[in-house]
Amino acid sequence: MGVKVAPSLLAANFINLQADIEMLNQSEADWLHLDVMDGVFVPNISFGFPVLKAVAAVCQKPLDVHLMIENPDKFVNEVRDLGAMMMNVHYEACPHLHRTIQRIKEAGMRAGVTLNPATPISLLEDIIGDVDMVLLMSVNPGFGGQKFIPHTIERLQKLRDLIERQHAHALIEVDGGVNLETGKRLIDAGADILVAGSFVFKSPQPKEAIHQLKTL
Ligand code: DX5
Ligand code: ZN
Repeated sequence: MGVKVAPSLLAANFINLQADIEMLNQSEADWLHLDVMDGVFVPNISFGFPVLKAVAAVCQKPLDVHLMIENPDKFVNEVRDLGAMMMNVHYEACPHLHRTIQRIKEAGMRAGVTLNPATPISLLEDIIGDVDMVLLMSVNPGFGGQKFIPHTIERLQKLRDLIERQHAHALIEVDGGVNLETGKRLIDAGADILVAGSFVFKSPQPKEAIHQLKTL
C-alpha cells in the first residue's frame, strides 16, 4: 500500500477555504489534517471549533485533527461532533495519556499520540499497543513553513522498531517540512502518512503536488 497524504489546512487560503477544500475533495489526498493551537501549548493560535465545523460540512475526506493544546481531554466530544476520524493529542500535554486515549476511542474515533522533536520515542513503550497512530513532529509545532529536522529520520526508525518489537498496529504519520525530498526519505524509513501544508498549498498546482507525494 502506498503512502497516505494529509494536506494541512493551516497553509490554505483562509479568505476562501471553500475553494481549497473543494480542490482537496477532487484530489488524491487521503485525509485532511487540521491544526488546532491554543497559544499556551504552542506559541501561536490557529482556528477553533466554529471554523472546523464549517470546514467539516464541505470536506469529503476523513478529518485528522491535531490538537496542539493543553488539556485536550476537555474537547473529546467537540472533536467527535465534527465527525473526526482521528484525534491526535500531544504526549507532552497529557499527564493521564492512557485515560485520554481510552476516552477518544470510547467516543468512536481513532486515537493518535503526537511527539515533539525532543520527546524520546522510548516514552511510548507502555502505550504503543493502545494507540492507532503516532504523529511524529518533524518541526517544533506552532507554525507552518518550517525546515524539516533531519534527526526525525532516526526517530522514525526507532519508532518502527518499537512497533515491530511489540507487534503493535500503530500507523506512523510525520508532520512538518514535508516536500518531495524529505517525503522520499520518510517513506523509505517507514512513514505511513505524510502531512504537507506549504508544499501543497503554496504550489501553483496543489493537486499535482499531492499526486507527486503519493507517487514518490
Ligand atoms: C505545525 C503543524 C503542521 C503544519 C505543517 O505545527 O502541525 O501540520 O501545518 O506545515 P508545513 O508542511 O508547511 O511544514
Ligand atoms: Zn499538524
